[in-house]
Amino acid sequence: MTEDRRFRVTLLPQGQHFEAGADESLLKAGLRALVPMRSSCRNGTCRTCICRLASGQIVYEIEWPGLTREEKAEGLVLPCVARPLSDVVLRYES
Ligand code: FES
Repeated sequence: MTEDRRFRVTLLPQGQHFEAGADESLLKAGLRALVPMRSSCRNGTCRTCICRLASGQIVYEIEWPGLTREEKAEGLVLPCVARPLSDVVLRYES
């Protein structure tokens, strides 16, 4: 199994970084590392945590995260329900 893989997550524009396991959400890993990441529902519906996947690959824990097909195509992601498949860079816009 690959569940013990760990990846580096970088948050832009501040440049904070932390490690996330392949078996946990990016938000959960960030909060565990005491990195401030905005969130509310933590189940992929409220969109408070929305940001842009600048690089890397993710997979969703749920079948229908609260993003449109167009938003996904633009690179928007919901870190509360996204697990890393590689090193990841997330960009937050104000
Ligand atoms: S915290 Fe609600 S969608 Fe991520």
